[in-house]
Amino acid sequence: MQEIKINLKDNSYSVFIGDLKNLEFGSKVAILSNQKVAGLHLKTLLERIKAPQISIISVPDGEAYKNLKTIEQILEQMFCSYLDRKSTLIALGGGVISDMGGFAASIYERGIDFINIPTTLLACVDASVGGKTGVNNAFGKNLIGSFYQPRAVYCDSAFLATLPSRELRAGMAEVIKMAVMFDKDFFDYLVNFDLSGDLAGFYDEIINKCVRLKASVVAQDEKENGVRAVLNYGHTFAHVIERQSGYGEFLHGEAVGMGIIMANELALRLNLLSLDDANKIKACLARFNLALNYKIKDANAFYNAFYLDKKSANNKIKFILPNGKIGSYCLRDDIDKSVVLDVLQGLK
Ligand code: NAD
Ligand code: GLY
Repeated sequence: MQEIKINLKDNSYSVFIGDLKNLEFGSKVAILSNQKVAGLHLKTLLERIKAPQISIISVPDGEAYKNLKTIEQILEQMFCSYLDRKSTLIALGGGVISDMGGFAASIYERGIDFINIPTTLLACVDASVGGKTGVNNAFGKNLIGSFYQPRAVYCDSAFLATLPSRELRAGMAEVIKMAVMFDKDFFDYLVNFDLSGDLAGFYDEIINKCVRLKASVVAQDEKENGVRAVLNYGHTFAHVIERQSGYGEFLHGEAVGMGIIMANELALRLNLLSLDDANKIKACLARFNLALNYKIKDANAFYNAFYLDKKSANNKIKFILPNGKIGSYCLRDDIDKSVVLDVLQGLK
């Protein structure tokens, strides 16, 4: 079991990577999950939890249900379970469950403890760590939410054994994002690792690496006033893709893969990336069967959707781009609209 500390001004906590240990609570616990994940993994979790009362809260599965209506349902079930301010909500599932669980915990009686037990690769490497919680609405992805840190995160890659390969691949987009932005050696590891054998060790390694990278970013900038925005590489584009396609056609990670390609097109235009490096990143995404081409129908509409991006302020759109090489990043809010539009037109 590895322990990685998320060091914050207040509310520091640990991410534990390895076999899920026994968890003991002095107060009531509710486990939030969906039918699919609960059917596969709830029994394992229940065998490890000791608490005076354990209730199960189930929500419909999928990004399409990551909204305020589902939050109300979660809160209702929390009230029906008589949770109090000493209770803990455990989110067992992927990023949709941890984002909604964290948000519900943050507003239930002005905030109760929550713990993340991620069961997707994407949630292990990114969503379960760092305290961004929230839901989507008609205006965009994750536009309603809070920064609310979990008390602890338990990443046990054994849960990934039941994850469909499409979901595993989608998780790899966030892993590649981390590598391209922060760590060339890690990128080379992803490019060169022999994927033909048993991948259990590979997943443990990349979860470890990504959590360490994210821990360092979140410790520097918990509320995204600076470097944390770099974790949004590819996402400015991906969020528009997800919204335009109704949060159903593409998995979040797949949209991120396409968004990385789009961000790189912009970086190429600005001479922030060599064609060689852009091709290496494309090949790395392709290695994990990512980076489909997304055909932009209306470049102006796509551009206008950027204004709803949470990084935009004072009518300036912020782009996260590589900065000259793999493993290096920059934040740019000074890119001429005509340049961006021209790149988007080229992606039609
Ligand atoms: P998800 O939560 O929808 O899970 C993907 C699918 O896999 C679901 O159908 C789920 O029921 C199923 N599943 C989960 N675990 C399983 C398992 N072990 N075996 C079989 N099936 C399993 O999707 P996701 O990719 O985990 O997360 C995407 C969400 O995470 C998005 O909403 C995104 O916005 C959010 N996110 C948040 C952060 C953050 O920092 N808060 C970071 C990245 C992504
Ligand atoms: N996944 C982006 C962040 O946590 O900031």
